[in-house]
Parts: sequence; structure tokens; C-alpha cells
Amino acid sequence: MKQNILVIGGTGKTGRRIVKLLNKLDYNVRVGSRTGTPAFDWHNTDGWTAALEGIDAIYITYQPDLAVPGALAAIEDLVKVAKKQNVKKLVLLSGKGEKEAQLCEQVVIHSGLEYTIVRANWFNQNFSENFLVEGILGGHVALPFAEAKIPFVDANDIAEVAVKALTEDSHNGNIYELTGAEGLTFEEAVGIIAKASGRSILFTGISIDAYVSAMRQQEISEDFIWLVQYLFTEVLGNPNNSEVTHDIEKVLGRKPISFNEYVEKTVGSGVWDAPVNQFD
Ligand SMILES: NC(=O)c1ccc[n+]([C@@H]2O[C@H](COP(=O)([O-])OP(=O)(O)OC[C@H]3O[C@@H](n4cnc5c(N)ncnc54)[C@H](OP(=O)(O)O)[C@@H]3O)[C@@H](O)[C@H]2O)c1
Repeated sequence: MKQNILVIGGTGKTGRRIVKLLNKLDYNVRVGSRTGTPAFDWHNTDGWTAALEGIDAIYITYQPDLAVPGALAAIEDLVKVAKKQNVKKLVLLSGKGEKEAQLCEQVVIHSGLEYTIVRANWFNQNFSENFLVEGILGGHVALPFAEAKIPFVDANDIAEVAVKALTEDSHNGNIYELTGAEGLTFEEAVGIIAKASGRSILFTGISIDAYVSAMRQQEISEDFIWLVQYLFTEVLGNPNNSEVTHDIEKVLGRKPISFNEYVEKTVGSGVWDAPVNQFD
């Protein structure tokens, strides 16, 4: 019998790709999100028992990030409910190079349930489905840690690895570190997008302090500013995180999707077609 699988964050960047792949393979999939049925909300434990009822395996993405205060307690609570509901396996999406996230990983590792940890580097899709889109459409991207070489990883590769981990026992007990095949600076990445999309996009390297000040001027919430600052400093500020890993090839038997392939495909989707300065 095919397993019942709950995908928490099942409408998000990795989650919705996982839902699609699992549906194709004919698994019984439940989307875990605030708009799912039953709804799953990290901030309302009341709904968790219903969301986990009858579930064999769970893909866990925490919102907004495993590094934020409260994440550890939430993962501990989720594990308790999962055990009560006889869930057999947990696959946790974690951030590569995030020390705080590793505390949450430990909760899953010591849960007594089967598990796989999937630590991912920064996603390619941050340029098309997340906070970097605005700068690209506005024709000017200004970011700190401009010198860091980042082996961006594609959300489609993460999804394929997660599906293997959810459905095949051979991945139990493993920690996978997922990166793309080459490190790129933000400037190089933006240059590839500009060339392929035919847009003129200026890149400016700025200090983390200037970036934080700019966010404050835009009245972005202090919690979000803290997280962005943490992710830039902790992940991109650490030269170890420029390392390219080979776990995608090990699990999928093929090379990771390259940044160029991602860009070509995304140009075709039309997401970068909006007029320049539409946010002014
Ligand atoms: N982006 C990256 O580069 C990157 C790299 C490494 C690791 N990660 C990790 O990936 C995870 C997902 O991050 P992301 O930025 O890529 O987001 P995402 O997966 O695109 O997140 C959106 C998903 O989370 C759901 N969601 C939002 N708030 C929720 C809540 N309170 N309760 C339940 N579900 C909620 C959304 O559904 P609804 O709105 O319908 O509730 C949607 O399914 C994070 O844990 C992050 O640390 C991200």
C-alpha cells in the first residue's frame, strides 16, 4: 500500500514541487499549510493532531527559518504529536551552515523515528520566487557579501532528493548537504539573469550595515531584519559555505541543475518580464 505523506509548506518553493512529484508517483499526499485541509499552522498546535492523523511520513519545512527563536520548541512539539500519531518517518529541510538549525536537526535525529536531514544552500528560486525578484524587476540589485561564492541549489533538485528520502528506506539516518555544482557571486548570478532575460540590471555590493539600514527605512519588521542579517552573516559570511558538495549526484545519479539551466527555464516562465521600476 502506498504511504500517506504530509508535506508541511506544501505550497512553498520546495513543498509544492514535492507534492507534484509524489502525486505523480501515486502517493496519498496531504498539503500542510495554513490553507490546507485540515489546516496546519506552526502557530496553532490545536490543528496538528488532525493534520497528522493517519500520516506515515512528513516533509518538514519550518517558517520562516529553523534559526528563529521558537523553532526548536515547535519542532519538539511536532515530534511529540508525530509519535502519538504513529508517524514512521521525518524528512527535515534544514539550512546548510546554520548552527541554530542544527539544534532542531538533533530533535529529529533523536526522535526515535526514521529520519533524513536535507541541508540546503541558498535556493536559485530566491531570484524568481522570493525577496530578490523585486531588485531584478526594478533593474538594481544591491546586496552585502558581494564577494562570497555561493553554490546556489535548485528547488527542483531539493524536491527530488526529498521525495527519495520520503519514499525509500535506504536514505534513513542520512544527513544530505545540497549545493549546486559551482559557486557564483551575487553579481555573477545577476549578470547571467540580465543576459538571458535581456534586462539591464545594475549590481552594487554594499555593507551588511547599509543593507540593514535600507530595510529599516522600508519599515520591514525587526524580526525579519534579524533573520536576513543572520542568514547573510552566518551563511554567506562563512567561507566554508562556499564548498560544493556532491550529495545531489550521490542520491539522484545525475549532476545538479546548473544556474544557467535554471535561468533559461525561468526566462521562459515570464516571471522576469515585468517592466523595469514597476515597484517605484
Ligand atoms: N530560501 C532559501 O534559500 C533556503 C535555503 C535553505 C533552507 N531554507 C529553508 O526552507 C524553508 C522554507 O523557506 P522558504 O523561504 O523557501 O519558504 P517557502 O517554502 O516558499 O514557504 C512558504 C510555505 O510555508 C507555508 N507557511 C507559511 N507560514 C506558515 C505557518 N505559520 N504555518 C504553516 N505553514 C506556513 C506556506 O503556506 P501557507 O501560506 O498556505 O500557510 C508555504 O507553503 C525554511 O525553513 C528555510 O529555512 C530556505
